[in-house]
Amino acid sequence: MQRYQEIICDKQYQDMIEKIKEYENDREFCCHTLEHFCDVARIMYILALEEGSSLDQDIIYTTALLHDIGRVWEYEKGIPHEQASVEIAKEFLSKYGYEDDEIRIITTAIGAHRKEEVTVQVDLHTPLCRPYERIKQEGNGAIYMRSLPHSVTEQPSAELLQEEKEKNELANYLYRADKLSRNCFVCKAKNGCKWSEEKKNATLIL
Ligand SMILES: [Fe+2]
Repeated sequence: MQRYQEIICDKQYQDMIEKIKEYENDREFCCHTLEHFCDVARIMYILALEEGSSLDQDIIYTTALLHDIGRVWEYEKGIPHEQASVEIAKEFLSKYGYEDDEIRIITTAIGAHRKEEVTVQVDLHTPLCRPYERIKQEGNGAIYMRSLPHSVTEQPSAELLQEEKEKNELANYLYRADKLSRNCFVCKAKNGCKWSEEKKNATLIL
């Protein structure tokens, strides 16, 4: 069984999904249901396949299933949901035996999935070996993330470079899939939605 399947079947995870559903019962705008999480998982995987990524399906699906789970703490405790999702994700990832590098990759993507909440700065020529500082969005929805420059004395290992590459890819797919998953073109609440017209999906893209 893929590890993400164990998370879906976890009682605590299912309880959180149910609570979010209750809190969003009267919500006019997009909700954060298991269906949304599965939509994001599948779109991320489509993007990864189309673009020849070597990211593992298990990592992609796990990220999608946990990316908004922190909504429950946002409604209960006022914690921004991407931060809460990171903390909750760590618990599930440890429980189901994810490796430390996998946890770092997944939680980095989750923590950065709300572009507007991330303050970034970029140096695309610098190897990505530090915590991300900023994200830049292009018109096509692609994002570029970058880390703090490291000193000339630091020589990042091949493993570290690979981990940073996967972090970047995973965060990119999560951000894009999260947006692509929303059916703005038939949404009755789109006039009151805070998304800019440019950000809204005018058609079914994926
Ligand atoms: Fe989402």
